[in-house]
Amino acid sequence: MFPKKRMRRLRKKESLRNLLSETKLDLSDLIYPIFVEKRSKPLEIDMMEGIKRYPIEDAVQEAKEAEELGIPAIILFGVPEEKDKKGTYAWKKNGVIQQTAREISKNTSLTVITDVCLCEYTSHGHCGVLKNKQVQNDETLKLLKKTAISHAEAGADIVAPSGMMDGMVKTIREGLDKEGYENTSIMSYSAKYASNFYGPFREAAESAPEFGDRKRYQMNPKQKREAIIENRLDIKEGADILMVKPAMPYLDIINETSQKFEEPLAAYQVSGEYSMLKQAINNNLVSEKIILESLISIKRAGADFIITYFAKKLAQKSTTPP
Ligand code: PBG
Repeated sequence: MFPKKRMRRLRKKESLRNLLSETKLDLSDLIYPIFVEKRSKPLEIDMMEGIKRYPIEDAVQEAKEAEELGIPAIILFGVPEEKDKKGTYAWKKNGVIQQTAREISKNTSLTVITDVCLCEYTSHGHCGVLKNKQVQNDETLKLLKKTAISHAEAGADIVAPSGMMDGMVKTIREGLDKEGYENTSIMSYSAKYASNFYGPFREAAESAPEFGDRKRYQMNPKQKREAIIENRLDIKEGADILMVKPAMPYLDIINETSQKFEEPLAAYQVSGEYSMLKQAINNNLVSEKIILESLISIKRAGADFIITYFAKKLAQKSTTPP
């Protein structure tokens, strides 16, 4: 009888499909991003429905809720009280991130991750110090080092440099070790592309560059082998965890990275991915099940865990893991 091998046999029942699932997605795979600003009330982000910029106390509350729901980690982004050319508020002892990290690590057992970059802190919105309108790599490294140390001092478990400066991981590792923070990990945004998918984040974090773009430091979306070089360099410099960002449009890069390197691999489902999915759901173009499908695809590609703005909502919905 034709056909002998019937693939549909194994798809017959939900329990059987579950049993055979090659890809697992669990709440413990998710990192929840939180935006913080010293302000009196939460601020809704128009471009990212459901996401807010929180006052410190509310951010701590948000983190506590995430923990109760079973999410293991949060990543913090700060909007400072003031911005200047160098981004001085990035490394203030009592800056917005430092205070928030301190409170969250005191009040929860979450893994506290901090984004280490200057774009939210500089008046011009670029990820480093400028000279002739160009970001100066080596001068910027010194500031990133100070920033990372101040985060570690505040209780960050993992610092996550996202500025794509050459040598940032090495500089930060040396700085942390010298100050006695040898147990603070580095999750490098190792393969970060100059992507248009970051649009909504720049409203949320108030970090759009005043002029130009980030193409001189973030990667060209046309590159694939270059991502391997970037990852390899960051491992050599001391990165504990690698990252590919964005996620969905770069599944091939996630896959390649996961096959080539043994280090844990994060993928960042960025703001533009979030807002697109959200809008499509709101307009009834697709079911909200696309959220899970999108995250499964990222895990199937090879990511070990995912930074996603959907984390908390997903956790609230599911009694069982997603
Ligand atoms: C800071 C940073 C950005 C994102 C994370 N860290 C913005 C950028 O590089 O322009 C984007 C995250 C998102 O879009 O959700 N450099």
